Amino acid sequence: MAAAGSNSGVKHGPLAGGSVGVSIRNATRRYGAFTALDDVSLDVAPGEFLSLLGPSGSGKTTLLGILGGFTVPSSGSVHFGATDVTFLPPHKRDIGVVFQNYALFPHLSVGENVAFPLRARREPKASWGKRVAEALAMVELTGYEDRAISQLSGGQRQRVALARAIVFRPRLILMDEPLSALDKHLRETMQIELRRLHRQLEATIIYVTHDQREALTMSDRIAILRGGRLAQVDTPERLHDRPSSAFVASFIGESTLVPVTRTGPDAIALGSTTLRSARPLPAGEALLLAIQTEKLIVASETSADGYNRLTGRVTDIVYQGESLRVFVALDHGPEISLRQPAHHAGRLAIPAPGGVLTALLHPQDTIVVPAESA
Ligand SMILES: Nc1ncnc2c1ncn2[C@@H]1O[C@H](COP(=O)(O)OP(=O)(O)OP(=O)(O)O)[C@@H](O)[C@H]1O
Ligand SMILES: [Mg+2]
Repeated sequence: MAAAGSNSGVKHGPLAGGSVGVSIRNATRRYGAFTALDDVSLDVAPGEFLSLLGPSGSGKTTLLGILGGFTVPSSGSVHFGATDVTFLPPHKRDIGVVFQNYALFPHLSVGENVAFPLRARREPKASWGKRVAEALAMVELTGYEDRAISQLSGGQRQRVALARAIVFRPRLILMDEPLSALDKHLRETMQIELRRLHRQLEATIIYVTHDQREALTMSDRIAILRGGRLAQVDTPERLHDRPSSAFVASFIGESTLVPVTRTGPDAIALGSTTLRSARPLPAGEALLLAIQTEKLIVASETSADGYNRLTGRVTDIVYQGESLRVFVALDHGPEISLRQPAHHAGRLAIPAPGGVLTALLHPQDTIVVPAESA
């Protein structure tokens, strides 16, 4: 395991060191009587970008800590490839780690910070300069070797932390909310850069965030945690289209959950309106319709055959830059909202508050989840 990088040559970038699959089996972590992580099993494929997404306190950092060796599970196991690493200390796991607070050494220069893992691994000193330069190039900080950490912006510090995590060609990189201290613009830039970096490195990346857009932007798959348990593990698209629970439906995207009743094999009733779903309905009679704002289309004169129709009165129109969020109180029903492009034609299609609006929802976008039992 120590010889990461030995199989380079046909790899994507100079720092590509291969990747490793991760297998977590029945991992549980208790603190006294409290269970922070509850029987989690999860397989991450070699080279995959998997995000752990969930609200505060759902166990994301605990699970990452178990992967990194900073937290010992109360029971369960972790394998990297075929190797059982459950009780291996962090420095023997050969992983790159990036945390929210970059944890750089303030008294060392940029170059010395990035070289630190090479020193710790007793890599030959003659190779350090080239490796550090390669790592800094990957994060677009070429030539910054001699800068003091105090002379860097927040985004630059985070990139130094990234360079330090990748300089020794780890096959697995763990990141815990690495961008949360950055402003929105820089965060979005860094998300795109991380995607690119992931392709070049080919390492497996496990990434903690509580920002669903961030997870959607970067991930091959997303594992959603709730109260220490896995709620659903799926691709971003499937999480949108087939949320397995009301929790997932409300956590992913921007949706309104509306109680409905099953009236047929593919039909549900929302008040007096019957809607059809092209997706299998969950069992039970009392269900929830997850109406995602972006799936609603404002009805115009054009034919809308086959669509479900939701009619109500506009209650509020909120201008949000690129789009308008339009709130509509359904006739004898709840309030829903939809997004409409803020361009001229989009605005014209929306009546003023008080006016009647019909929104169309395609049966393929008619997503129904079980009513919450808890
Ligand atoms: N050392 C500890 N002792 C006791 N309880 C702990 C300890 N570490 C974590 N917990 C608890 O375990 C639960 C999960 O914590 P964890 O840090 O994994 O959450 P998280 O999903 O990372 O949250 P956040 O988004 O706020 O970082 C929380 O309720 C937390 O209070
Ligand atoms: Mg955390």
